[in-house]
Amino acid sequence: MFSHRSKEYKELHQQTVQRLQKFLETENNVFLSPSSGSGVMEATVRNCVERKMLCCITGEFGKRYAEVGESNGKIVERLEAELGKPITQESLDEKLSSVPDVEAVAITYNETSVGLLNPLPKLAKVVKKHGKLLFVDAVSAMGGVELKVDEWKIDVCFASSQKCFGVPPGLAVANVSEEALERSARAKNKGWYFDFKLYEKYQEKESGTHMTPPIPQILALNKELELIEAEGGKHKRLKFCFKRMQKIKEGVEGLGLSLFPQRGYESPTVACVNAPRGISGPEVYERMRGRGFELAKGYGELKERTFRIGNMGHIRPEDIDEMLRTLGEVLR
Ligand SMILES: Cc1ncc(COP(=O)(O)O)c(C=O)c1O
Repeated sequence: MFSHRSKEYKELHQQTVQRLQKFLETENNVFLSPSSGSGVMEATVRNCVERKMLCCITGEFGKRYAEVGESNGKIVERLEAELGKPITQESLDEKLSSVPDVEAVAITYNETSVGLLNPLPKLAKVVKKHGKLLFVDAVSAMGGVELKVDEWKIDVCFASSQKCFGVPPGLAVANVSEEALERSARAKNKGWYFDFKLYEKYQEKESGTHMTPPIPQILALNKELELIEAEGGKHKRLKFCFKRMQKIKEGVEGLGLSLFPQRGYESPTVACVNAPRGISGPEVYERMRGRGFELAKGYGELKERTFRIGNMGHIRPEDIDEMLRTLGEVLR
């Protein structure tokens, strides 16, 4: 390992940030956070919200955002959709008209707990029409779904290394707008570790961070971004992921199963599958695990009723074929 103040680290840091900026189509700062994604969630609240925020809730991770806001002493307004349904433009517009004093809106792009993709480009337009800051939890979206942070005017967009990038956990990336940095400059009691202004200062001053960063994860992420470029770029990667999910969906439906979310809003990165009659979600999970496949149990309210199939990281199409064959056997 080399030091985070060494020449090698500075080069690595600079290259990783530049590759992320290209990937996210942004000219804003991208910071490397020595935490999982939840750390950046907390950072958005501490740096950019003085008093009040709105959290859009479509599942457990939207609920977590609201908890993070409240546990940091903020007033949290909630806009909650029926489970399996997305937040709509109309409901968001109405909510923002009735609570005009919120400073920021938090949206979970891909709600991993229910396998649902919110219509972010449309929702972002509504948030900006009302002149609010926009925080996007893209933990299970970045790297697997289209994300144009500048075009959609996202103020803070963050993700964890361990999801679509397929890198070990312990690193998060955060895209932070100028407006978000200005809020941070004015924020009181925001703490030191997750201070966006300190991230900016050290990135500008020495292509580094104000603390010791998780260098192995940064090396891995940099390599992953290099591989994406070598494979033909971001859109090629997204297309590959999309096709892989098509295979999962068709296979699951071919086994007589259905997906939980409302049609048209199914996540491209995680399939949340309704467990068949007579067998619980956790039982499907355990049986598949016994055959060497790591799926995921249902989450929160859906724990018993569903199981989930991840479409993230390094999975080959032939792995999916084998998984589907095994799922069929396990269910029979
Ligand atoms: C949508 C979403 N948000 C937030 C988180 C929390 O991220 P982390 O575990 O990296 O803190 C997760 C984790 O699965 C997630 O899926």
